[in-house]
Amino acid sequence: MRHLLGIEQLNREELANYLNNAKSFVEVGTRDLKKVPALRGKTVINMFMEPSTRTRASFEIAGKRLSADVINIGGSDSSTSKGETLLDTARTLQAMTPDVLVVRHKQSGAAHFLARHLKRTSVINAGDGMHEHPTQALLDCVTLQQHFRDRNDGISKLRIAIVGDVRHSRVARSNVYAHALLGNEVHLVGPPTLVPPELSSIKCFGAKQFANKVKVFSDFAKGIEGADVVMALRMQLERQEDHFVPSLQEYTDAYCITEKRLSTYAPNAVVLHPGPMNRGLEISSEVADGKRSLIENQVNNGVAVRMAVLFALVTSHNYSSLETGHTKES
Ligand code: NCD
Repeated sequence: MRHLLGIEQLNREELANYLNNAKSFVEVGTRDLKKVPALRGKTVINMFMEPSTRTRASFEIAGKRLSADVINIGGSDSSTSKGETLLDTARTLQAMTPDVLVVRHKQSGAAHFLARHLKRTSVINAGDGMHEHPTQALLDCVTLQQHFRDRNDGISKLRIAIVGDVRHSRVARSNVYAHALLGNEVHLVGPPTLVPPELSSIKCFGAKQFANKVKVFSDFAKGIEGADVVMALRMQLERQEDHFVPSLQEYTDAYCITEKRLSTYAPNAVVLHPGPMNRGLEISSEVADGKRSLIENQVNNGVAVRMAVLFALVTSHNYSSLETGHTKES
């Protein structure tokens, strides 16, 4: 079976294929009738064992726009709340012969675990604990490709500053893998408790291509200086088992992404945030709703990215090469 468990497992070409296919699906979302018959007769089960607004809605809309049958199972309304193991729940669902199982779970490694045990269903990781969130990194890249479409190097040779609670962030981890593959410089910025210096070590991300690409900064100004992209991360209080910052006010004073700071240190930067946002804590409303913000574009592109991933795993085809009534761009 084919799965999408993380960006770590992808090579440059596979990453580029997902991004290219997603571009074809962006156009479908602009049509009056936003539906293609590509996955008619296929079944997608969304199994979200952690809260989610955008990822879950986006996978559901993506499946429906591809004409698949989509079923949603949540944590509290599934039998795991009666003591059934995750694997038994997943095997039960597999017995109903779905084509894809989309999994979000608080345990890092949950999607890999299911992929190892389910032999007849493709697994998509929609966020596993503090580990990876591959479709988020893909939609971030598609959003940047749109923004930097006139740039000679496209989305390589960029400086990307990822700011905030990196330690607990699966979004950051998937983005680091993606940007290392794309040939970008990644700055991880935040207090040492949330951005441990070891993150810049080659051992941490376990691959040659990270040498010299990932740098860690506790000084906000130095970390975002000259950045082309500033990615804000949510302060993930629900994952913090310890006191990682002296107080939220102190964190905000030192690391909140504000217009004043951006115009001083990274005047040309665009801003991403995976959502949900804590306005006034990690990002100011002025930035979130301002001209630099690509946050709504991220959400919009999320649907196209998930369509591309569902389509690729179920059919092994390149969408843009199919005759589906889709008008190709020249
Ligand atoms: C993220 C997540 O759940 O990992 N949100 C998302 O999927 N868009 C980030 C977060 O929770 O902070």
